[in-house]
Amino acid sequence: MAEPTKNAAREPILEVRDLVKHFPLTQGILFKKQVGAVKAVDGISFELYQGETLGIVGESGCGKSTVAKLLMNLERATSGEVFYKGEDISKLSGRALKAVRRNIQMVFQDPYTSLNPRMTVGDIIGEPYDIHPEVAPKGDRRRKVQELLDVVGLNPEYINRYPHQFSGGQRQRIGIARGLALNPEIIICDEPVSALDVSVQAQVINLMEKLQDEFNLSYLFIAHDLSIVRHISDRVGVMYLGKMAEIGTDEQIYDHPTHPYTQALLSAVPVPDPEARAGRERIILSGDVPSPANPPSGCRFRTRCWKAQDKCAEEVPLLAVPERFASSGSLAAHDSACHFAEEKDVVGAA
Ligand SMILES: Nc1ncnc2c1ncn2[C@@H]1O[C@H](COP(=O)(O)OP(=O)(O)OP(=O)(O)O)[C@@H](O)[C@H]1O
Ligand code: SF4
Ligand SMILES: [Mg+2]
Repeated sequence: MAEPTKNAAREPILEVRDLVKHFPLTQGILFKKQVGAVKAVDGISFELYQGETLGIVGESGCGKSTVAKLLMNLERATSGEVFYKGEDISKLSGRALKAVRRNIQMVFQDPYTSLNPRMTVGDIIGEPYDIHPEVAPKGDRRRKVQELLDVVGLNPEYINRYPHQFSGGQRQRIGIARGLALNPEIIICDEPVSALDVSVQAQVINLMEKLQDEFNLSYLFIAHDLSIVRHISDRVGVMYLGKMAEIGTDEQIYDHPTHPYTQALLSAVPVPDPEARAGRERIILSGDVPSPANPPSGCRFRTRCWKAQDKCAEEVPLLAVPERFASSGSLAAHDSACHFAEEKDVVGAA
């Protein structure tokens, strides 16, 4: 199993075990009958270590946001467990859930629609205190909110302004301030910079890194952009059609990927160095992503994989260190869900 690097401690703060979310597909208007299920998340396991950033990448519809919602308890899991500091939180409700929720907060993708346009910035950032007044008693809220504005690099005097008076990057800073209001330990970031201009993305990422060091935060960072994910992540998980295809440290995944899907994703990332670009092989995947309501048997990637063999249709490949690399001491020795995992020379995102 891949270990965390950089600023992370070795203690898992969150452990996800065989998490499943199937959305029922129904037919009929009056008498709804279940005719199938969208297997949005279909048996995913991973750890998030204290103080680390775990990046999650994968094509649209592979289940990234559903994982985020399950961790936040915004969706109920069909099965599986989510342990927060050793306690299974996936089945909690009421007061017990509220207490845990305080420690796990979320920053959303679109700072334009995720902030209520009719509320002042002070009310938006201070809203979590309505549910958790113990963190900031009424008389103390204004000061707390102004402190948070300062922490995210906004002028505390803007407290009475409305979201439309801010730029996209500033709005995402407001979203981050709200995420920090309850002093959480974990922040789930679902595409936090995807809606922002490229020039602003770096500023928001730098802010998030600074806050992580300052408050010892653990991030689950979901994104499309493989270069951004590499920049911010200690480890990276690659999802395909509701499953984890490969997971490891950023170096293992970007420089020594062994799963064909990861190799294909990386081969499509633009590389600035013309020499590296000239020497690389671009892997073009054939076909579309199959429907999660009817995923292929065996390996889900087999309908698009250039290496697929009979075994791939018959046996589900487990996410584990491939035997051939297990005692190699090489960076290829990390979890990969492929029967024929091997290294391939792809130039990863810098
Ligand atoms: N409430 C729901 N009811 C039915 N199906 C759903 C629901 N929410 C998500 N899905 C389906 O589950 C699958 C995974 O969706 P999800 O939003 O988790 O993907 P994603 O990886 O976040 O995609 P994107 O990169 O586009 O945000 C998709 O096929 C989606 O249509
Ligand atoms: S298990 Fe087979 S189909 Fe799946 S990624 Fe590996 S080689 Fe391709
Ligand atoms: Mg999503």
